[in-house]
Amino acid sequence: MTDRIEIPETFPNPGDVRGKRVVLTGAGRGLGELLAHAFSRAGASVALVARTERDLKTVAAALPGPVLQFSGDVRDADFNEAVADGTVAAWGGVDVWICNAGISPVVAGPLKTDPQVWRDVLEVNLTGAFLGARAAARVMGKNGGSLIFTGSVLGERPARGLAAYSASKAGLVGMAKALALDLANGGITVNVVAPGWFDSPLAAGWKSNEKLEQAVLGHTALERWGRPGDLVGTYLFLASAAAEFVTGSVFNVDGGYLLK
Ligand SMILES: NC(=O)c1ccc[n+]([C@@H]2O[C@H](COP(=O)([O-])OP(=O)(O)OC[C@H]3O[C@@H](n4cnc5c(N)ncnc54)[C@H](OP(=O)(O)O)[C@@H]3O)[C@@H](O)[C@H]2O)c1
Repeated sequence: MTDRIEIPETFPNPGDVRGKRVVLTGAGRGLGELLAHAFSRAGASVALVARTERDLKTVAAALPGPVLQFSGDVRDADFNEAVADGTVAAWGGVDVWICNAGISPVVAGPLKTDPQVWRDVLEVNLTGAFLGARAAARVMGKNGGSLIFTGSVLGERPARGLAAYSASKAGLVGMAKALALDLANGGITVNVVAPGWFDSPLAAGWKSNEKLEQAVLGHTALERWGRPGDLVGTYLFLASAAAEFVTGSVFNVDGGYLLK
């Protein structure tokens, strides 16, 4: 017995995803396209998921590593199961499932929000992520794995006119924590990455509105929008062996947006 901590001969390399089999939803454009490049360049095999087949083809053609394409809707439970089965059939398993598909179709108060729009946002952003996690858990079984949900800082601090979006992203946090408990004995970790404001087609409406643009910059401690390279490291870390003891956590990658 010694009073010194035991120093292992090697440490897991944060961000080492070489050989990992990754399912990535919302991979057709925006942050998902960015993540597809980051994982593929880091040596992972990436199964791309979105509804628009043309987008998937474009992304797939630009990736250096093994790639699969599944066009379909994350709201569909059977589709999620088919993605899981198709990935297992091609690559023998799934190590990482990133539920990143999301929509934010309206900026409107409750009276101007069509009930169907509310339902759509919750269905894609929250139910879609649950159905992905469910399919992932089935094929990961007791082999372990990493589930990563793309949340948003707006889940913690809402903005006007985004009740459905904020509810869906806050819901992801509760769901991730509950699933982290449910799936722990299979060695499956479940975490949320909550980006601040990143340039992407989804955020284009904000950037083109000067008042909103100023509000974003005014709240962000680092006084700028997120750049592509700012986001990917947290996902790579959570997908790597270095994060096997990290579960039920929320990682804000927001330049300090939640600080002020
Ligand atoms: N951009 C930001 O600043 C920011 C900040 C915080 C959080 N986020 C979150 O980050 C994630 C990605 O956002 P983004 O900005 O990259 O958005 P985006 O550019 O609009 O891309 C969204 C992706 O999700 C796919 N998608 C949407 N609905 C789907 C469905 N029902 N089934 C399957 N795929 C679907 C889209 O493809 P199809 O339409 O072809 O299906 C597309 O590939 C979202 O969860 C968003 O809430 C973004």
